[in-house]
Amino acid sequence: MSGKPLAGQRAVVTGASSGIGKAIALAFAEAGAAVVVNHHSDVAAGKAVTAEILEKEGRAVSVGGDVSKPRDVQRLFDAADSHFGGVDIVVANAGAQADAPLLEMSLEDWRKVIDLDLTGAFLCAQEGARRFLRQGLEPNRSKALGKVIFVSSVHQRIPWAGHVNYAAAKGGVRMLMETMAQELAGRAIRVNAIAPGAIKTPINTEAWATPAAARKLLKLIPYGRIGEVEDIAQSAVWLASDAADYVVGTTLFVDGGMSLYPAFRNGG
Ligand code: BGC
Repeated sequence: MSGKPLAGQRAVVTGASSGIGKAIALAFAEAGAAVVVNHHSDVAAGKAVTAEILEKEGRAVSVGGDVSKPRDVQRLFDAADSHFGGVDIVVANAGAQADAPLLEMSLEDWRKVIDLDLTGAFLCAQEGARRFLRQGLEPNRSKALGKVIFVSSVHQRIPWAGHVNYAAAKGGVRMLMETMAQELAGRAIRVNAIAPGAIKTPINTEAWATPAAARKLLKLIPYGRIGEVEDIAQSAVWLASDAADYVVGTTLFVDGGMSLYPAFRNGG
């Protein structure tokens, strides 16, 4: 997209110290938004993202917090208020994997991923919506009262052996998003999701970092390349902007065709 499609808007991006969240924070700033850059354990990485935005004359602030904790979530939005005067966009991106075959998965790993990837997304989206409603509509800023974007996964649709906690969380994010969109569309809040496929990030390094792994992965991607974080970031800018004002309750699959059952390419 050209120009500054998010000029004057304020965004909270969770899990913005690396990977897809970082790329979204940078792209939002480039598009004119002021960004609350949330990090969890890696404080230095979060601060580096903020510094990169400030160097380019953008607006950003680093805020630590675990999105599965309501008090930490409040802190993110309080920072948006005190630094930027409010919030217009929430990107619920923070997430993690803790993989194990079903028969071996510990309750701890199950809970960890559900807490962060599903409950964390719920808490951020809920608090964002509360703040949008409190602020009221500002048509000069954006046509919608506010926008929520969940960073989901192709695994909201594709079952994934060995990752049952993650697939269950992302399946939950899908219905969280659609239900929230249905409930709040009448109040001018747009809720959508992006479902990334295999994107080169720290979460899945072992799936693409060696030539043999990349070859295996590419068999699952009809478009023939592994995704880059910018592929997701550009979609998020568009989805958050007024150009997508009539997009409500949709999951945008940005996956090079991974969700097209590529195993069937050569006949069933
Ligand atoms: C996961 C990655 C995986 C991709 C495609 C993502 O949601 O986090 O680890 O490579 O889905 O399977």
